[in-house]
Amino acid sequence: MIDSIPPVVPAGRMRELAQPELALSGGMLLRPWTPYDAPTLVAAHADPDIRHWNRPSRLDLAGAEARIARWHERWQAEKAGTWAIAPEGGGAVGLVGLADIDLAGGSGEILYWLLPAGRGTGITVKAADRLARWAFDDLGLHRVRITHSVANPASCAVATKAGFPLEGTMRGALLHADGWHDEHLHARLRTDATP
Ligand SMILES: CC(C)(COP(=O)(O)OP(=O)(O)OC[C@H]1O[C@@H](n2cnc3c(N)ncnc32)[C@H](O)[C@@H]1OP(=O)(O)O)[C@@H](O)C(=O)NCCC(=O)NCCS
Repeated sequence: MIDSIPPVVPAGRMRELAQPELALSGGMLLRPWTPYDAPTLVAAHADPDIRHWNRPSRLDLAGAEARIARWHERWQAEKAGTWAIAPEGGGAVGLVGLADIDLAGGSGEILYWLLPAGRGTGITVKAADRLARWAFDDLGLHRVRITHSVANPASCAVATKAGFPLEGTMRGALLHADGWHDEHLHARLRTDATP
């Protein structure tokens, strides 16, 4: 970036912040993943809907533990933050993450999934909204986006209800198991009203 444009968030800012627990309503919270969550991650990566929409690789227990350790390294590298969606004191029921973080450019992308037992309660809307507020208020980003296949209306509803209006459609943007999907681009700015 040219000298006359300062970084939106200085390098080192994210590393200085310990990954926080973020409270949601209804006794739920976002918290860092721990090795005890590894069996949940194995199950999530085998779930047909998560496999189709989030496209994760299959994991065994050792692979899941390694993945969770890598998420902590990604925090230190200031590239991504990955939280478990969980009841207070309980096991993970889902994931919400801030990925593709560009501190200098002030942007990142939120992604999410829920295990089947956690679906239908609206918790992902709360998780995405809470994480966006952390990304703006604590980390200092300017813009956070959500992208999803146009064939995934549940994800579209989550993004819209979490305060990320639809900006447009990206043609042939992501290769799924059944071929190329057009993707919706949603985004929320720090200056937008909280939903
Ligand atoms: C997407 C996902 C996280 C949403 O889970 P959730 O938080 O339980 O969301 P809900 O089931 O409460 O649905 C959210 C909204 O979408 C709506 N919705 C759900 N399925 C829908 C469908 N097939 N068509 C239209 N709307 C739908 C719901 O009615 C709800 O809106 P409402 O609150 O106005 O009733 C979850 O379904 C999931 O993990 N799916 C598999 C993986 C995935 O799709 N990940 C996202 C990749 S981008």
